[in-house]
Amino acid sequence: MRRHSLCLHRLVLSICLLVILPGTVSPGHAAAGDPPIFDMGAPFHPVISRHGMVVSQEQLASDIGSDILRRGGNAIDAAVATGFALAVTLPQAGNLGGGGFMLVYLADENRTIALDYREMAPAAAHRKLFEDAQGGVDTDRARFSLQSSGVPGTVAGLVHALENYGSMSLKQVLKPAIKLATRGFEVTDTLSMALAWRGEQLLEDPVSATYFFQPDGAPLRVGQIWRQRDLAWSLKQIARHGARAFYRGAIAEKLVSTMEGGGGLITLEDLENYRVIERKPVYGDYRGYRIASMPPPSSGGIHLIQMLNMLETLELGDMDHNSAAYIHQLTETMRRAYADRSEYLGDPDFASVPEAKLLDKAYAARLAFSIDADVATPSADVRPGRYLPAESPQTTHFSVWDSEGNVVSNTYTLNFSFGNGKSVAGAGFLLNNEMDDFSAKPGVPNAYGLLGSDANAIAPGKRPLSSMTPTIMFKDGAPVLATGSPGGSTIITVVLQAIVNVVDFEMNIAEATSVPRFHHQWWPDVLILEPGISADTRRLLVEMGHGVSASPRLLGKLQSIEQRNGVLFGSSDPRWPGDAVAPVQ
Ligand code: GLY
Repeated sequence: MRRHSLCLHRLVLSICLLVILPGTVSPGHAAAGDPPIFDMGAPFHPVISRHGMVVSQEQLASDIGSDILRRGGNAIDAAVATGFALAVTLPQAGNLGGGGFMLVYLADENRTIALDYREMAPAAAHRKLFEDAQGGVDTDRARFSLQSSGVPGTVAGLVHALENYGSMSLKQVLKPAIKLATRGFEVTDTLSMALAWRGEQLLEDPVSATYFFQPDGAPLRVGQIWRQRDLAWSLKQIARHGARAFYRGAIAEKLVSTMEGGGGLITLEDLENYRVIERKPVYGDYRGYRIASMPPPSSGGIHLIQMLNMLETLELGDMDHNSAAYIHQLTETMRRAYADRSEYLGDPDFASVPEAKLLDKAYAARLAFSIDADVATPSADVRPGRYLPAESPQTTHFSVWDSEGNVVSNTYTLNFSFGNGKSVAGAGFLLNNEMDDFSAKPGVPNAYGLLGSDANAIAPGKRPLSSMTPTIMFKDGAPVLATGSPGGSTIITVVLQAIVNVVDFEMNIAEATSVPRFHHQWWPDVLILEPGISADTRRLLVEMGHGVSASPRLLGKLQSIEQRNGVLFGSSDPRWPGDAVAPVQ
């Protein structure tokens, strides 16, 4: 591979590091005389620890997880504590009112489990739920009404993970989140700005207005101490009564009363019927690495592996990273995988998903063969579709690794930033608008511009198709990378590029996270480039026939941990303010 000698050099440097490093280093001062680690992928430096690590999108939550590890908790204890803490500190995506997916690797059993705690359509939902009188789709109702909420899965998912794979009590892991909600924490610029950005929707709901805004309608002030009394009450209920509090008890009653007051569909029976599902991860092999990722109802794992299978037919490492030729090859790969997504993917308990065929390497080779190395294939020649929305997605990922080698890779969400903007009165948390991830009508795109088929039509009890891609990569039977990202439909291509950067270009995880990315999802037929991809490259791509988006856009926020020679390297995506890596010292 082109960068082979450079990488050998880096490997030698990292071995030096193992000898030199006592415990943890937070790199950043590359003065003469520093250990050679600081040359590793410079100027991109991961945070390092030998003893465990939590990487999330918010520092207080990462610190809480890391403290649990320090006190002897395992990766699952730390993940659950981090998940509940993010519900307090990152209200735009951390949640009690949403859902998600968790991959758990248990080192002593050498086993990976995929936990599906995705939201579920209420019993009253039906195929034409969001159709309007003219037969179109009422996108406002699908995205910003109480009907847009699926039955939340987060509380059941986190409690299930803890009870089955953790070592601490629910009270122990909830205590830090309860303390944060009760005593409060300082509002950051990022939080205040996020609230201002979504103010229009949030202020429409009087309950959200009191939770997240000042009496004059301004967002929480930067630097003020934000206490969340109602959310603290909910967390205490869960600590005392377990998941029952949310699905049958006092929280359930408040949630249903909010639904009844505003035309929502979720009933007490829907909440009682909610179940976490343990699924078998989807597996793939890529250049000697084994990839474990999320199966349906996420499309993430299948299409990540399908794209890797296609890319394995190429010598990517011989190409210049992010050159026009390279971006072209990956774009054509993405286009073909997302076309399949629109047709075949849905909740496997309701639709038959041809998983084995989609993951077949021979099928991937045929798709790869259809790529012209010099000319873009118009998406209309692959399958027809519609155009892209401007909505900015918000989901959040965290990765946790403990000193025993247990690993958690978790992505959860309210769908949009702050979900549908509606809060449960008295319970302190926002509701998801995950019902918009269903295909409301064939041929009509959802908020991410994604099209779907019958496989993803709305039905009672069904889980909407997701793109969340929590992933763990293995080498010689041991985990070497945990990664994942928010970003709606872009999640799968963001995770793909993280893996290709690490495997084919042998970048350290900080470099693999930081370098510019790009995205194509078949329909709309638009190639999105991040800032940092040159005007020359853009011009060459246009000449090849790509419809390059006029405005560059940031894609995803990876939260990853890499393991090399027993040392953990963490990277929190610099596309988001703050560094939320919390190493155990
Ligand atoms: N709500 C975004 C996703 O699940 O893909």
